[in-house]
Amino acid sequence: MPTIEGTVDNKRQELKEKVYEINKIAALFYHEALYKPTSKLAQEYVKKRKLDNKTLKAYTIGYAENNSNLYKFLKTKGFTDEEILASDLVNKMGNNFVDRFRNRLIFPIQDVRNRYIAFGGRVLDDSLPKYINSPENIVYSKARNLYGLNIAKNSNLEKLLIVEGYMDVVSLHQRGIENVVASCGTALTEAQGRLLRKYAQKIIISYDSDAAGQAATLRGLEILNNLGCDIRILQMEGAKDPDEYVIKYGNGRFNNLIDKAISLIEFKVKVLKKDLNLENTNDKIKFLNEVAKLVSTVDNRIEQEIYIDKISMDYNISKEAIYAEINKLNYSKNQGKKTLESKFVRTVTKKKETIPEALIKRENIIIGLLLNGKEEVYEQIKNILSPEDFKSEQNKKIVKSLYEEFEKGNSNINNILEKFNEDEEIISIITGIMADDYEIKNDKKAIEDLIKNYQKERLLNRKKEIINSLNNVNLGLHESESLEKELQDIIIKLAQIK
Ligand code: CTP
Ligand code: MN
Repeated sequence: MPTIEGTVDNKRQELKEKVYEINKIAALFYHEALYKPTSKLAQEYVKKRKLDNKTLKAYTIGYAENNSNLYKFLKTKGFTDEEILASDLVNKMGNNFVDRFRNRLIFPIQDVRNRYIAFGGRVLDDSLPKYINSPENIVYSKARNLYGLNIAKNSNLEKLLIVEGYMDVVSLHQRGIENVVASCGTALTEAQGRLLRKYAQKIIISYDSDAAGQAATLRGLEILNNLGCDIRILQMEGAKDPDEYVIKYGNGRFNNLIDKAISLIEFKVKVLKKDLNLENTNDKIKFLNEVAKLVSTVDNRIEQEIYIDKISMDYNISKEAIYAEINKLNYSKNQGKKTLESKFVRTVTKKKETIPEALIKRENIIIGLLLNGKEEVYEQIKNILSPEDFKSEQNKKIVKSLYEEFEKGNSNINNILEKFNEDEEIISIITGIMADDYEIKNDKKAIEDLIKNYQKERLLNRKKEIINSLNNVNLGLHESESLEKELQDIIIKLAQIK
């Protein structure tokens, strides 16, 4: 018998499906409208921005006419007013239904599964506001999506470029730089950072060169850095944004900028230097002091030395001066302990425990299987894994509540997100997993593989323990015999698993 919550969840799910459908129809409706003979102004605008047909098609870029024809069209397709309003493509004003986007160039936003989730609309002239966007709704969470990721994910993702605007994404893509996504002018969120990290080894920030863009760069950097991403910052001169740059100087030169993108430390040193005059003694002291602080945050000694070399060359100050400053810093930190040993003591910054990527992926697959809500899958997984077996603290919490829900006989897990209402990080992990296609085509096979992996890991750990114990000279004869017997068994089992 379905529970009340179950019915509510099903209703919500059905409405979501409708909104996805509406959004897709709308995207194609706008796209086709761009080619109508009556859409001359929009066509001229697109031409002025040098967008070719292939690009317009790839991103389903379109045009919203200055009328409410979308609403009418959706009605002919049989959607109810409630469904249409839920898409936020239409507003109700009194008794009238009014299209939200009017006389604007339309950039549909798609998620990684290519579903249409939202829209941005740009004016065709200099009037304000330049863009209007879909508000957050039943299918759209601004903080958890990146414009263009559905397309970028098909390119070579050794590096992934993050830019500010729709126009930057489509313009770079058109010129062969396809590994690019946009944060759409808002501060990068942690959920977006995770999304980036999932797809790319290296992330290159290429925000606008104005002050606002640079401030946004710094904020984005902190987020990505805290997530452990390998980040570089692209430095651009002679153009306000990547779109303008690539049009003005070509993709060859833009690619050079990508190759020359600088590290976080170098970027911070550069920002620091901007307000200082190194000819001035006070400024120079301040500079050295801050540089020392920045360099000491790097854990790896060799990396630290490389930075020091580079900064010394770039700013024409002696390496010794920088080392001396770092020593001073360490000395004042350790005062009383008298631990200054070498000419260069590095500070030990404690790193968060890092869990191997493969392990996290495995845990995510399990959570993904559980989120699909099948009772029999839960039974199988429960038999081999307890929440404590999960290495990441967040995953422990997630699995614990999933198990609790299943125990209550509640196989509809949509409300799990609401349980974690306060915990942004957990919500972003769960939605990340839900948004993911972990390509689990075959539940049964996936579970079998997981079981095997975990069994193997446990056996290997136990094997290590036994070998350690056997090396203990104080071990009694009886004990060592039984351990040896267990070891034999383990070795046989391990051979069988392979
Ligand atoms: N943006 C927005 N609302 C605004 C201005 C900007 O949502 N009023 C978002 C859009 O996603 C936009 C991004 O911020 O793409 C970056 O802004 P901007 O650099 O001004 O836009 P571009 O995409 O570069 O557009 P254009 O080149 O036409 O100026
Ligand atoms: Mn621009």
